[in-house]
Amino acid sequence: MAIRQIRKKGDEILSKKSRDVEVIDDKIKELAEDMLETMYKNDGIGLAACQVGMLKRIVVYDYLYVEENGKKSPVVMINPVIKSRSKSMIEVEEGCLSFPDEYRDVKRHEKVTVEYTDLEGKRKTIHAKDLEAVVIQHETDHLDGIVFLDRV
Ligand code: NI
Repeated sequence: MAIRQIRKKGDEILSKKSRDVEVIDDKIKELAEDMLETMYKNDGIGLAACQVGMLKRIVVYDYLYVEENGKKSPVVMINPVIKSRSKSMIEVEEGCLSFPDEYRDVKRHEKVTVEYTDLEGKRKTIHAKDLEAVVIQHETDHLDGIVFLDRV
Protein backbone atom coordinates (compact mmCIF):
# COMPACT_ATOMS: atom_id res chain seq x y z
CA MET A 1 0.00 0.00 0.00
CA ALA A 2 1.09 3.54 -0.59
CA ILE A 3 0.02 7.07 0.09
CA ARG A 4 -0.84 8.81 -3.18
CA GLN A 5 -0.60 12.48 -3.93
CA ILE A 6 -3.91 14.34 -3.74
CA ARG A 7 -4.80 16.56 -6.68
CA LYS A 8 -5.71 20.02 -5.49
CA LYS A 9 -7.81 23.00 -6.52
CA GLY A 10 -6.94 24.17 -10.02
CA ASP A 11 -6.01 20.69 -11.29
CA GLU A 12 -8.17 20.11 -14.36
CA ILE A 13 -8.59 16.39 -13.62
CA LEU A 14 -11.06 17.42 -10.89
CA SER A 15 -13.53 18.64 -13.52
CA LYS A 16 -13.28 15.58 -15.77
CA LYS A 17 -15.72 12.68 -15.99
CA SER A 18 -14.39 9.32 -14.82
CA ARG A 19 -14.84 6.05 -16.71
CA ASP A 20 -16.42 2.82 -15.49
CA VAL A 21 -14.14 0.12 -14.13
CA GLU A 22 -14.46 -2.88 -16.48
CA VAL A 23 -12.42 -5.49 -14.59
CA ILE A 24 -11.54 -5.58 -10.90
CA ASP A 25 -7.94 -6.72 -11.18
CA ASP A 26 -4.98 -6.40 -8.81
CA LYS A 27 -4.28 -2.87 -10.02
CA ILE A 28 -7.81 -1.74 -9.12
CA LYS A 29 -7.59 -3.43 -5.71
CA GLU A 30 -4.24 -1.75 -5.06
CA LEU A 31 -5.67 1.61 -6.11
CA ALA A 32 -8.62 1.18 -3.73
CA GLU A 33 -6.31 0.22 -0.85
CA ASP A 34 -4.06 3.19 -1.59
CA MET A 35 -7.06 5.51 -1.72
CA LEU A 36 -8.17 4.35 1.74
CA GLU A 37 -4.67 4.76 3.14
CA THR A 38 -4.40 8.22 1.60
CA MET A 39 -7.81 9.21 2.96
CA TYR A 40 -7.03 8.07 6.52
CA LYS A 41 -3.59 9.67 6.43
CA ASN A 42 -5.14 13.02 5.49
CA ASP A 43 -8.03 12.76 7.99
CA GLY A 44 -10.62 12.62 5.23
CA ILE A 45 -13.91 10.73 5.36
CA GLY A 46 -14.17 10.13 1.62
CA LEU A 47 -12.08 10.12 -1.54
CA ALA A 48 -12.73 9.60 -5.25
CA ALA A 49 -10.15 8.11 -7.63
CA CYS A 50 -9.83 11.30 -9.69
CA GLN A 51 -8.49 13.00 -6.56
CA VAL A 52 -5.41 10.78 -6.80
CA GLY A 53 -5.18 11.28 -10.55
CA MET A 54 -7.12 8.24 -11.80
CA LEU A 55 -10.24 8.84 -13.91
CA LYS A 56 -11.96 5.67 -12.74
CA ARG A 57 -15.34 5.35 -11.08
CA ILE A 58 -14.12 4.34 -7.63
CA VAL A 59 -15.12 5.93 -4.34
CA VAL A 60 -13.91 5.10 -0.84
CA TYR A 61 -15.26 6.44 2.42
CA ASP A 62 -15.44 5.89 6.14
CA TYR A 63 -17.85 8.36 7.69
CA LEU A 64 -17.65 6.73 11.14
CA TYR A 65 -13.88 6.86 11.57
CA VAL A 66 -13.76 10.15 13.46
CA GLU A 67 -16.72 9.58 15.77
CA GLU A 68 -15.70 6.00 16.52
CA ASN A 69 -12.28 7.08 17.74
CA GLY A 70 -10.22 5.47 15.06
CA LYS A 71 -12.13 2.22 14.56
CA LYS A 72 -12.08 1.73 10.81
CA SER A 73 -15.20 0.89 8.77
CA PRO A 74 -13.97 1.38 5.20
CA VAL A 75 -16.32 1.18 2.23
CA VAL A 76 -15.12 0.78 -1.36
CA MET A 77 -17.62 1.45 -4.15
CA ILE A 78 -16.82 0.61 -7.74
CA ASN A 79 -19.09 2.05 -10.43
CA PRO A 80 -21.57 3.48 -7.90
CA VAL A 81 -24.90 4.70 -9.23
CA ILE A 82 -27.42 6.63 -7.16
CA LYS A 83 -30.74 4.98 -7.97
CA SER A 84 -33.04 7.12 -5.86
CA ARG A 85 -32.96 10.29 -3.78
CA SER A 86 -35.31 11.47 -1.04
CA LYS A 87 -37.28 14.66 -1.55
CA SER A 88 -36.18 15.80 1.88
CA MET A 89 -32.92 17.71 1.97
CA ILE A 90 -30.30 18.37 4.63
CA GLU A 91 -27.62 21.00 4.81
CA VAL A 92 -24.22 20.05 6.16
CA GLU A 93 -20.89 21.86 6.13
CA GLU A 94 -18.63 20.07 3.70
CA GLY A 95 -14.94 20.09 3.01
CA CYS A 96 -12.81 18.24 0.47
CA LEU A 97 -9.22 16.98 0.54
CA SER A 98 -8.70 18.67 -2.84
CA PHE A 99 -9.79 22.04 -1.39
CA PRO A 100 -7.99 22.32 1.94
CA ASP A 101 -9.30 25.05 4.23
CA GLU A 102 -12.51 25.56 2.24
CA TYR A 103 -15.72 24.66 4.02
CA ARG A 104 -19.23 25.39 2.77
CA ASP A 105 -22.79 24.50 3.66
CA VAL A 106 -24.19 22.33 0.89
CA LYS A 107 -27.79 21.10 0.45
CA ARG A 108 -28.00 17.38 -0.28
CA HIS A 109 -30.69 14.74 -0.33
CA GLU A 110 -31.22 13.32 3.15
CA LYS A 111 -31.41 9.74 1.87
CA VAL A 112 -30.08 7.97 -1.20
CA THR A 113 -30.17 4.44 -2.52
CA VAL A 114 -26.94 3.53 -4.24
CA GLU A 115 -25.88 0.49 -6.26
CA TYR A 116 -22.21 -0.38 -6.56
CA THR A 117 -19.80 -3.25 -7.07
CA ASP A 118 -17.57 -4.25 -4.17
CA LEU A 119 -13.94 -5.37 -4.44
CA GLU A 120 -15.06 -9.01 -4.71
CA GLY A 121 -17.09 -8.10 -7.78
CA LYS A 122 -20.47 -8.41 -6.08
CA ARG A 123 -23.17 -5.90 -7.00
CA LYS A 124 -24.69 -4.40 -3.86
CA THR A 125 -27.40 -1.93 -2.93
CA ILE A 126 -27.41 0.22 0.18
CA HIS A 127 -29.80 2.75 1.62
CA ALA A 128 -27.85 5.60 3.20
CA LYS A 129 -29.01 8.58 5.20
CA ASP A 130 -27.65 11.71 6.86
CA LEU A 131 -23.84 11.98 6.84
CA GLU A 132 -23.33 8.75 4.90
CA ALA A 133 -25.76 9.97 2.21
CA VAL A 134 -23.93 13.30 2.07
CA VAL A 135 -20.54 11.61 1.65
CA ILE A 136 -21.88 9.36 -1.11
CA GLN A 137 -23.35 12.33 -2.99
CA HIS A 138 -20.14 14.37 -2.57
CA GLU A 139 -17.91 11.52 -3.77
CA THR A 140 -20.08 10.34 -6.66
CA ASP A 141 -20.22 13.97 -7.84
CA HIS A 142 -16.41 13.81 -8.17
CA LEU A 143 -16.86 10.94 -10.66
CA ASP A 144 -18.77 13.36 -12.89
CA GLY A 145 -16.28 16.18 -12.49
CA ILE A 146 -18.46 18.07 -10.00
CA VAL A 147 -17.00 19.46 -6.79
CA PHE A 148 -18.87 20.63 -3.70
CA LEU A 149 -18.23 24.30 -4.50
CA ASP A 150 -20.30 23.78 -7.69
CA ARG A 151 -23.25 22.84 -5.45
CA VAL A 152 -23.20 25.95 -3.26
NI1 NI B 1 -14.21 15.95 -2.30
